[in-house]
Amino acid sequence: MRRKFVAGNWKMNTLSRSAVELASALAKAVPARLPAVDVAVCPPFPYLSAVGAAITGSGVVLGAQNVWHEKPGAFTGEVAVEMLLDVGCRWVILGHSERRQVLKETDELISRKVLASLANGLPVILCVGETLDQRKAGQTESVLDGQMQGSLAGVDVQGIGQVVVAYEPVWAIGTGMTASTEQAESAHLHLRRWLEIRYNPGVAAATRILYGGSVKAQNAQSLLEQPDVDGALVGGASLKVDDFLPIIRAAETARKS
Ligand code: PGA
Repeated sequence: MRRKFVAGNWKMNTLSRSAVELASALAKAVPARLPAVDVAVCPPFPYLSAVGAAITGSGVVLGAQNVWHEKPGAFTGEVAVEMLLDVGCRWVILGHSERRQVLKETDELISRKVLASLANGLPVILCVGETLDQRKAGQTESVLDGQMQGSLAGVDVQGIGQVVVAYEPVWAIGTGMTASTEQAESAHLHLRRWLEIRYNPGVAAATRILYGGSVKAQNAQSLLEQPDVDGALVGGASLKVDDFLPIIRAAETARKS
C-alpha cells in the first residue's frame, strides 16, 4: 500500500511572520506523524529555517521549491542541495511548470537537479504536466512521456525509489479548473505504466503519484479516491490551515475504488 502524501507548495508567498504563523498552526493541527499520510510544506527559501523550527516534532516535514545542481561554490543567487539538507529539508520540488515555463527550465536541467538531489539523499517531488493546447491536440501522453524520460534521465532503480511524481496539468494550476477525476486517473495510470516499462512492475506499484492543480477541500476526496492518485501537491489551498487541513483529512479517509 502506498502511503498518501499531501504537500503544500507555498510558491512565492508569505513573509516571515505569516510563514511561521501558518507553519505553527499546521504543526498544532498535525502534532504527530499521521498513520497513513505524509504531510510536507515547501516555503520560500528565506523562511525554510524558521518554518523548520515551527514544525519540529510535528507530523509535518519541510521541503524546498527548487535547488541548484552544483556543489556549493561560485553560483550567485543559487542554493545547493547541501544547504537544503542543512536546514532540514526532506523534499525538493523539481520541474514545476512555473519553472519550466517562466524560468525556461528544460528537462535536461531538471534531470541534473534530480540527480544531484538524489546523490545527496534529498528525495524529489518531480512535476510533469501538459498545457491546454497540448491536451487539446491529443498530446497529453506524449508530453508526459517526454518529460518523464528527460527529467529522469540517468535515474536508476534505486534513485527512483526516492522520487514522488506529481501530475500537474498546467491548465489546472491556479486557475480554479481542476482535472476531472477521469482525466486525473487516466494520466496517473499512464505515468504508472511508463514507470513499469522504464523500470519494473515493482517500481510502478511503489511510486507515489500526486495530483496537483486547484486541489481544494471540495474536490480532494474524489481525486484522492482514484486508484492511482496517491496524494496532492497543493498551491493556493495550502496557504490557509482551514483550507489545507481538510485536504489532509480527505487523504486520511479516501477509500480506493
Ligand atoms: P494550485 O497550485 O493548487 O494553486 O493550482 C498547484 C501547484 O502549482 O503545485
